[in-house]
Amino acid sequence: MPPEDHASYTPDAQIADDIHAYLDRHQHKTLLRFITCGSVDDGKSTLIGRLLYDSKTIFEDQLAALEADSKRVGTQGGDIDFALLVDGLAAEREQGITIDVAYRFFATSARKYIVADTPGHEQYTRNMVTGASTADLAVILIDARKGVLTQTRRHSYLAHLVGIRRIVLAVNKMDLVGYDQARFDAIVADYRGFAESIGIEDFTAIPISGFRGDNVTNASANMRWYDGPTLIEHLDTVELDQSKDAAGAFRMPVQWVNRPNLDFRGFSGLVAGGSVRAGDAVRVLPSGRTSTVARIVALGGDLEQAVAGQSVTLTLADEIDCSRGDAIVAADQPPQVADQFEATIVWMADEALLPGRGYWLKSATQTVTASVQPPKYQVNVNTLERLAAKTLELNAIGVANLSTDRPIVFAPYTAPDGSTNKTLGGFVLIDKFTNATVAAGMIHFALRRAQNVHWQATDITREQHAALKNQQPAVLWFTGLSGAGKSTIANLVERKLARMNRHTFLLDGDNVRHGLNRDLGFTDADRVENIRRVGEVAKLMTDAGLIVITAFISPFRSERDMVRAMMKPGEFIEVHIDTPLADAEARDVKGLYAKARSGQLKNFTGIDSPYEAPDAPEIRIDTRAMSAEEAADAIVARLIA
Ligand code: ADX
Repeated sequence: MPPEDHASYTPDAQIADDIHAYLDRHQHKTLLRFITCGSVDDGKSTLIGRLLYDSKTIFEDQLAALEADSKRVGTQGGDIDFALLVDGLAAEREQGITIDVAYRFFATSARKYIVADTPGHEQYTRNMVTGASTADLAVILIDARKGVLTQTRRHSYLAHLVGIRRIVLAVNKMDLVGYDQARFDAIVADYRGFAESIGIEDFTAIPISGFRGDNVTNASANMRWYDGPTLIEHLDTVELDQSKDAAGAFRMPVQWVNRPNLDFRGFSGLVAGGSVRAGDAVRVLPSGRTSTVARIVALGGDLEQAVAGQSVTLTLADEIDCSRGDAIVAADQPPQVADQFEATIVWMADEALLPGRGYWLKSATQTVTASVQPPKYQVNVNTLERLAAKTLELNAIGVANLSTDRPIVFAPYTAPDGSTNKTLGGFVLIDKFTNATVAAGMIHFALRRAQNVHWQATDITREQHAALKNQQPAVLWFTGLSGAGKSTIANLVERKLARMNRHTFLLDGDNVRHGLNRDLGFTDADRVENIRRVGEVAKLMTDAGLIVITAFISPFRSERDMVRAMMKPGEFIEVHIDTPLADAEARDVKGLYAKARSGQLKNFTGIDSPYEAPDAPEIRIDTRAMSAEEAADAIVARLIA
């Protein structure tokens, strides 16, 4: 997943500073990021505490406090209880901020490490996915007494899902099973069967005791039967996966255009895949224009070559259009560009996914509007069963098709043939109003239909249609509670416009729901789809040169704004028929409010389903202050003006 999008998960700026200070101190060492999976019961805190302690990253004063604490709680044998240390650090960090993922740092003589420590409980799928998305390796902890548990499977599945290809099975608490080799072998065999079933090709199993220190940093004298590496030896020497992205073809999403003066125009960004040299032929996407790299500018001076993971500025030999969100790629091996995908989506918000709603989709430096179709299925993360689902709730993982309003450059997040790229295949979805990250996703592939359907140019343009009718197309979008007077006023407006020889068409909620939208009810998701379809129809009608009048409750801002964005600037006129709930209910023309109050009608707008009034409608009609006739006159006057 794109690192910049994960900024939103970083608990606070202090931690970012810590990370930088730490990385600076150990500049020459390779970095391994890993995640520990397991619950407190599995001894996770103890293990992390020991890693920190043995690598001497514990500050002296904390150590003193720890020894005192351990004495107080009476740890047997005078051993330091490492869990106290980690939990203490966590508590310190937690003041005033909610931390879902705690990052810890330590270094050995060989490597520097960042450990993402996430709560193990089922509800924390979101956190684990967040922590795992940037990790090279996962340490899956097992309690030797308990063996492979449901949560072991869940953690392994999630780690594999986000593309971690290095798995360590740390069979912990070996001291409590008498350091028994048979027990260890049985657990490993059990895990192997499961791992194969979900496509984990390889893993390294190590018998340890975090509490006693066996096989963590020091080889255990208690398990002579084990001749593999200690946990730290393994971490220090495991081959890093970073070469994966670097091995592919060159890709650089453009972060910003660097133009200090007229003589210099550079395109800055992080190389997301492959490498590039001065003189290489490149292509700018989505436009497809080609050029060659003139210079690779970096902080210390020009570079001959830049590889995946480096931030650079490229200058091109030709003056071609290229802006933020575009991608510069190898000319002869361009990635795919598409606007419809199948993807795995991990839902991270309390409010469930609304299929059809427009969310911001951010992938690398690209930001577009995307809507997700109803999920094909949801995965039960405990049993890995596929379940039918209409939506995705907090912590749910599902597979769905989605479409974007513009084509984006992408690569599959994981694919067997290696044509993958985490940066160009990962994305997050962001709520347009709250700006909260609501989901993380991984692109599987583009839908074929996206590639095989093209716009057909027609000879009679929308301008000609409008000219023939001698009018400007427009949409008068009425919104308001049921019984507010939308249909009545809309009908009067249409009559007045017809008298003025305007070509109009009135789309009314109750009518459209008898035909085009007969399959839709009144759940939030159905209302979103109702408005999406009506928006598309209104769009076609404006293309035909008509003045469209719509009368739908259209309770959600998001969907009204979505329709607005579909129209030409100025064409969409939002008309809020502002009738207080009490008035609409008192009139109760169709008797529906009475039914809703008595519980016979569910999801009724204003009663048990929300209405989000427009903040800044083009026209607001206060039905207490004017008659329907006056309202219609005011609206027509505004349209004709
Ligand atoms: S919208 O919310 O999806 O925009 P729409 O305008 O199409 O609603 O339909 C609203 C009309 O359907 C109401 O005027 C009312 O006559 C009828 N209706 C039936 N059930 C409901 C309900 N639960 N909530 C609101 N309107 C309902």
